[in-house]
Amino acid sequence: MHSNKRSENLDFPLEELRERLYDAVDMVVGLYDGIEQKKLFASNSPAEVKALFNEPLPSSPSDIGSLLQRVERDVFKHSTLNISPHFYAYVVSGGNHAGLVAELLASALNQNPGKWNLGAAAVELELRVVRWIAEFIGYDPEAAGVLVSGGSAANLTCLKAARDFKAGFDIRDSGARAGAPLTMYVSTEGHSCLTKSADMLGLGKESLRKIPVKEDFTIDLELLERAILEDKAAGFVPICIIGNGGTVNTGAVDRLALLAGIALRHNMWFHVDAAYGGPAASTPSGRELFAGLKLADSIATDAHKWLYAPYEAGVALVKNKEALRSSFSMMADYLRDVDGTGRHDSTEYNFELSRNFKALKVWMAFKAYGAEKIRAAIEGNIQVIQHFAHLIEATPDFEMLAPASLSIACFRYRTGDPQFWNDEAYLSPLNKKILRELELDGRVFLSGTVIHGKQALRTCLVNHRTETAHVEYLLRILREVGQSSHTSLHRVEQEVAM
Ligand SMILES: Cc1ncc(COP(=O)(O)O)c(C=O)c1O
Repeated sequence: MHSNKRSENLDFPLEELRERLYDAVDMVVGLYDGIEQKKLFASNSPAEVKALFNEPLPSSPSDIGSLLQRVERDVFKHSTLNISPHFYAYVVSGGNHAGLVAELLASALNQNPGKWNLGAAAVELELRVVRWIAEFIGYDPEAAGVLVSGGSAANLTCLKAARDFKAGFDIRDSGARAGAPLTMYVSTEGHSCLTKSADMLGLGKESLRKIPVKEDFTIDLELLERAILEDKAAGFVPICIIGNGGTVNTGAVDRLALLAGIALRHNMWFHVDAAYGGPAASTPSGRELFAGLKLADSIATDAHKWLYAPYEAGVALVKNKEALRSSFSMMADYLRDVDGTGRHDSTEYNFELSRNFKALKVWMAFKAYGAEKIRAAIEGNIQVIQHFAHLIEATPDFEMLAPASLSIACFRYRTGDPQFWNDEAYLSPLNKKILRELELDGRVFLSGTVIHGKQALRTCLVNHRTETAHVEYLLRILREVGQSSHTSLHRVEQEVAM
């Protein structure tokens, strides 16, 4: 006969729990201590990192103290330090300490805001931070919203609402095949998750029309309207225009108010992918650029990007609450609440049922720092990158490849020797090599992209720890690594030519 023995309980005795939490706290403080001097990337090969964890499923217990040491040695050491002020890659922020503390507490409480009676405070805090985020970026505070894993999920959630609201037939019941083919529109600079969304919504990747951009990387409005008219004439039903609220490549912000006007004229939904740039709408530098944001039917933004929240926290905002509800509502008997009065049911507004308690870290950060301080940090990031772009422009061995917009600069190293400055066949491989060498070097971390066919180095700053002095240091490292990469690449090319 099986008995529920004390030994089967997985908890630590409380004194041990306290001790291990303190050990973990020491590890956290150690991680941040001297962060500026730490290598950002360990540069080991996939085989080396795989080998560290290549062990069978453990059948017997390990001592938790030595396990923590193991985490420090193997996990910390092989983690990319996006918490460092020298981190500039992709659109990755370094989190914040209020959020870090909140994550521990949220995990201890283990709330699931999927149902109100599973976490009343978690649900109400989520509704509150959704409202605060909408207010912070200048959107309708009454908009419906949900915290999801990130910008990709937030875009998918909003586009699902757009599809269902504008399809003109009951697409939820009958599927996309039951009506005329639907189309959506974004610029060629739109994030890849939008194409994935079109695919996942059953419309097909090609249903997302990619409209060319102008010199400043914003969508060409004339070409957009032409494409809509041509599609209509060919029997398609254009349902949604997606504006970029800060493209991932260059930070370009489409002319949102004009896009809203086109959407209105053609009875289309207007969505803005502001996963990266949204929070900049609150700053003096971004306010005007984002003036049309409030006209959007829906917005995807991320708290884990430019609101500095630790992963994960994406935000889907939809102005018409009923449009969001009717897109996701699916009540099952086992989910019905015993008391419906005033209890918000987030599963009715979202695909996911079980979720973690994301709202606590966002709420604690807003409370701990206040909106003004967060806004100042975002504005600071913009100013620091503008300063960096001016340094690049003033330096002959580098050149900008796109206008610096929001907190992104795309540029390349072109050597100090003018004979290479137009040598496209040399400069792209050189800059690719620089990116690889920078990873191995580990003092700074950035990523690249391709601008007009040219390999670019790209800095994106969504880190409140980075100051002017850090980007001046960055430029020195880039020049040093640029020069050594040039010396070795040029030597190899000469040897090959001989
Ligand atoms: C403009 C834009 N949209 C969407 C995404 C996807 O967001 P996430 O990585 O949070 O899924 C990103 C990510 O960088 C982005 O920059």
